[in-house]
Amino acid sequence: MMLTIEPLRWGGALALSGVYLAMCLGIWRSRLARVQSAGGPADWLVVYASQTGSAEFLAERTAATLALGGLAARAVCISSLDVGQLAAAGRVLFICSTYGEGDAPDTAARFAGHAMGGAPDLSRLHYGVLALGDTSYANYCGFGRALDVWLAQRGATPLFERIDVDRGAPEALAAWQHHLSHLAGTSDAPDWEAPAYGEWRIVARKLLNPGSLGSPLYRIALAPCDGALPPWEAGDLAQVSAPLDPDHPREYSIASVPAEGRLELLVRLQQREDGTPGAASGWLCLCADAGDTVRLRLRAHARFRLGDNATRPLIAIGNGSGLAGLRALLTARIDAGVHRNWLLFGERNAAHDFLCRSELEEWRDTGALARLDLAFSRDGAKTRYVQHLLDNQAAQLREWVADGAAIYVCGSLQGMAGGVHDALVAALGVEKVDAMMADGRYRRDVY
Ligand SMILES: Cc1cc2nc3c(=O)[nH]c(=O)nc-3n(C[C@H](O)[C@H](O)[C@H](O)COP(=O)(O)OP(=O)(O)OC[C@H]3O[C@@H](n4cnc5c(N)ncnc54)[C@H](O)[C@@H]3O)c2cc1C
Ligand SMILES: Cc1cc2nc3c(=O)[nH]c(=O)nc-3n(C[C@H](O)[C@H](O)[C@H](O)COP(=O)(O)O)c2cc1C
Repeated sequence: MMLTIEPLRWGGALALSGVYLAMCLGIWRSRLARVQSAGGPADWLVVYASQTGSAEFLAERTAATLALGGLAARAVCISSLDVGQLAAAGRVLFICSTYGEGDAPDTAARFAGHAMGGAPDLSRLHYGVLALGDTSYANYCGFGRALDVWLAQRGATPLFERIDVDRGAPEALAAWQHHLSHLAGTSDAPDWEAPAYGEWRIVARKLLNPGSLGSPLYRIALAPCDGALPPWEAGDLAQVSAPLDPDHPREYSIASVPAEGRLELLVRLQQREDGTPGAASGWLCLCADAGDTVRLRLRAHARFRLGDNATRPLIAIGNGSGLAGLRALLTARIDAGVHRNWLLFGERNAAHDFLCRSELEEWRDTGALARLDLAFSRDGAKTRYVQHLLDNQAAQLREWVADGAAIYVCGSLQGMAGGVHDALVAALGVEKVDAMMADGRYRRDVY
């Protein structure tokens, strides 16, 4: 009897202490994971390279999933990572988007230039790559692919094959989650679904550029159908799911602040090659009326918020619909009583394209804008774009930057953003511009 009961007792006691020990270990590890996620060393680094926040969102969730399994994991922006840390890190998961034409996002520009230009020994490193992209671009997932190739060439060992994600494809994200569950030893796949769309209605729509040589640009004000305006910050984005293409939402920079009581967008009507209007801009500018429901959700765009730059002088640079994001930032600062603001803005003709003219002139006249410089490219004998204003004002630009100014650029990627970047480099030097980008003093919302 004894012989049979004792082993059972011991077995039970051992099992109980095993459970107890596992619980303690679990608590200790999850405490450790929490502490480490606050900034200490971590077993796992989850490195994100993000422009508009999707990769960052997924990195936070990835780190949380690893922590669920008791692993110490920390999500970090690639701008804060150097080669030494990478070489010393044991296990790293990278989540990277691609911008421009196959380029690294702004936060990764320095890493792509400096670190990936070198030849460190990464033979201790085990890694995985989740590459975010869009197959409609020629260089699909260009940066994620380049990073993957570089890591392998430097001797790092892939934990699994790189996963490419086309416009947030759920199957690809499920494959990533599957790997995470395996690494973390958990079976439950956490819910990573994007927030649901809300129902909004258009309360006002105004054509801002009648008679323009360019495509029509509308200022569209929206209110939630249920009456409660959700919170957002200047710099954030709105995603619209249009009836013609509901699975591929389009992003719009929010032009207003919540204190104004409505959400405003500046939407350029796009025309496709066959002459039909763009799926989302056509719906917003031409089709939807007060009786229709616009499916919309807000997206925090941390990289373009004022954040640490709230009290610095601000140099806001943009063109066309890019005035949307700049207007929200300037309104937030003016409301907060911060008046060291300089707006440089470009469009085609002053007669038709001086967007939000009365408001901008009032801001200038009351001193809310310390400087307002405008470039109307079709007005003079010589074509002048917003980047040419920077060339002419290089001395003032250097002065403002020496006084601690932050630079925010919003609008066209083609033509404007590259030209502005070159003008900043010419005035400030490439090292200064790179450093400002890495430190978040030079931020862009360009598309
Ligand atoms: C971060 C961010 C912020 C943005 N902010 C703004 C903003 O504030 N204001 C603004 O106006 N826009 C903004 N955009 C652009 C916006 O998201 C949309 O891309 C734009 O409105 C065009 O979408 P659409 O559905 O109207 O056009 P689409 O239907 O997507 O067409 C756009 C273009 O794609 C091509 N195309 C696509 N499908 C076809 C097809 N079947 N046949 C032929 N050609 C095709 C054409 O060249 C066409 O001109 C922003 C984009 C990003 C990424
Ligand atoms: C202006 C712009 C340029 C882009 N260029 C590319 C590209 O060259 N290749 C690609 O695969 N995806 C490209 N994309 C798609 C993004 O990589 C994709 O939307 C990604 O999910 C964004 O993630 P993020 O929010 O973390 O920056 C581009 C998107 C924008 C808005």
